[in-house]
Amino acid sequence: MRNAEITGWGKCMPPNVLTNHDLEQLVDTTDEWITTRTGIKERRISHVEASELAAVAGLRALAAAGKTVNDVDLLLVATCSGDSIIPSTASVVQRHLKAWNAAALDLNAACSGFVYGVVVGTNMIRGGTNNTVLLIGTEKLHFVTDFTDRTTCVLFGDGAGAVVLEPTDEPIGLLSSELGMDGSVGHILGVPRDGTAGDPGPIDPRASAIGMEGPELFRRAVTTMGDSAARAVKDAGLSLEDIDLVIPHQANTRIIDATARRLGVDESRVFVNIHSYGNTSAATIPVALTEALEQGRVDPGDNIVFTAFGGGLSWGSAVYRWGERVEPLGESDAELPPPDRTTMELLQANFDFFGLPEKLT
Ligand code: ACO
Repeated sequence: MRNAEITGWGKCMPPNVLTNHDLEQLVDTTDEWITTRTGIKERRISHVEASELAAVAGLRALAAAGKTVNDVDLLLVATCSGDSIIPSTASVVQRHLKAWNAAALDLNAACSGFVYGVVVGTNMIRGGTNNTVLLIGTEKLHFVTDFTDRTTCVLFGDGAGAVVLEPTDEPIGLLSSELGMDGSVGHILGVPRDGTAGDPGPIDPRASAIGMEGPELFRRAVTTMGDSAARAVKDAGLSLEDIDLVIPHQANTRIIDATARRLGVDESRVFVNIHSYGNTSAATIPVALTEALEQGRVDPGDNIVFTAFGGGLSWGSAVYRWGERVEPLGESDAELPPPDRTTMELLQANFDFFGLPEKLT
């Protein structure tokens, strides 16, 4: 049977860092609160658009796969904080890459976007429509973050991760998946004013920032990710002992720990990098997968569980069997332009729009 496997991987994290100690200078919070409640120590603030992060991550993934931009026939960009709705972020990424042979579309399932993308990309290859799928998760979430709101501004960060999917006849790749959405509670996490809904007229800037009911999301994330991952493992015909690595969405270490407990997997088999980057939504899993490979945490034939939960409220879990190759075929020299502003200078645009954080007033 024609299947699809991940043959390349890469990430692009913008260099500007925002630490918990920096946030202590802005709002009424502490490094201790953020660390114990979320696991996050620092996050990145991008000086470029989500499409530029995506293009660099994509070039690195293509080099790892030994492919060129001309090989790409489908470009999937998972994002909920892309450059624009029209043109799509995928269109802009295609322009950056000059990937003129690729059909290109955005895929918005918020934090679950990468898992949705693996399933879509795999099935486009299985169906025979495509041969080289470049799937990128990219976010510039700081753009929609209100730094006067301590309940959200400590959580999010920017970054991009990418994989290349190619056909294989081996019994590897996606073994099972479960994708879901509960739109009946979509309102508990979102940016109220980023589309056509609502009356035209003067807009409260805070309606353009991410708002959420944190504790309710926390409760739903734990049960949904744990249960859907367990169902995906069962559907793959595997038992929990067969799982070598779980790569969960990185929103909160307490969510990750509780999900692992619910799934019955010990922490040595769970990949966590949230301390470095915070929640980068659709980018968290491809970035974590890239780092897991770089750190030698993936072996040939490993069974890997991807599981995510996010805005929508969306969720997705997938069981993926790795192939033989765990080393990249090549390296790209693609780099972002160096930033010409400090992290605080970059955040000034947010302060101008949403208002000054309380400690700067
Ligand atoms: N610093 C200090 N205190 C804070 C902060 C802060 N940054 N933020 C909130 N607090 C306070 C609250 O005001 C509250 O104080 P009170 O008891 O005096 O009222 C107290 O801390 C506890 O607040 P909770 O909201 O109950 O804290 P909780 O332990 O639930 O942690 C958090 C909040 C981190 C947001 C958690 O609920 C969470 O991670 N939720 C899930 C987030 C998520 O997964 N989002 C979905 C993905 S995003 C996407 O899809 C794009």
